[in-house]
Amino acid sequence: MPTSPLTVLRRHAAALRSRAHAPYSRQADATVLLLADGTWVPGVRVESAAFPLTIPSPLNALTTAVAAGRTDIVAAVFSAPLPAWERTFLSTLPFAPMAPVADDAVAATPAEDLPTVGSRLDPFLPDTPPPSPADGIRLARRVAGRALVPASAFPVGCVAVLPQGRLVPGVNVEPPDWTRILCAERAALGTAVTYGAGPVTALYLSCPKDPTGTPCGACRQLLVELAPDAVLWMDRGTAPPDSSPVPTLLPGSFRGQALLRDR
Ligand code: THU
Repeated sequence: MPTSPLTVLRRHAAALRSRAHAPYSRQADATVLLLADGTWVPGVRVESAAFPLTIPSPLNALTTAVAAGRTDIVAAVFSAPLPAWERTFLSTLPFAPMAPVADDAVAATPAEDLPTVGSRLDPFLPDTPPPSPADGIRLARRVAGRALVPASAFPVGCVAVLPQGRLVPGVNVEPPDWTRILCAERAALGTAVTYGAGPVTALYLSCPKDPTGTPCGACRQLLVELAPDAVLWMDRGTAPPDSSPVPTLLPGSFRGQALLRDR
């Protein structure tokens, strides 16, 4: 019997669990979104030492799709049964006819088919790191054009540079529940983790409506946790971009080492 497309997606979701960053709960999970043309978009759970800043896998997959310019989501497949609140959340999103189609855990399969840093996440971005900070900021401005911002009308764009030089886009995405809104910086970090790319080396950030824009506290927390060695370049409009090494963005940050001890 031929393997059904859904079975393939379930296998991807199961295998993607190994990419999750879940050192605190040890409950790795992953989501795969199916797009109208058959393309699939992954997202893994990304935990923060500040637990409520954890990025759930459905939201990570969603923001990855949106930042890649894709909102034609037709189905969602999960590696584990989806809690009721996540089902409710998905049903509030403005993407019809997206529906959870599978909630049974399935056996993990080899990871050859998984998207890697070598796979083409976003044809809009070049393959090589931006030659100058100004070029990186220009890319971040263009990426901001994909933000989904019905609540704020305040688009933000972020481009994260991976160790191999590939670029990952992130935009802010605003579901109706404001507590689920994910900023552009965290969206880019979540995508980088999903793609198993290694630590981000630089980020470019643009708030096109605010030449003084800087990352919010929640993003600073995730940046120090997930990109501690990166430099963040910030759009300053007509002035040259500002740069900050990530550790300077959040002095005295909570790192949660004690959370990793055996309970
Ligand atoms: N936002 C970001 O994307 N990054 C930040 O660092 C600051 C805030 C977004 C979140 C929300 O969609 C809107 O801007 C207003 O807070």
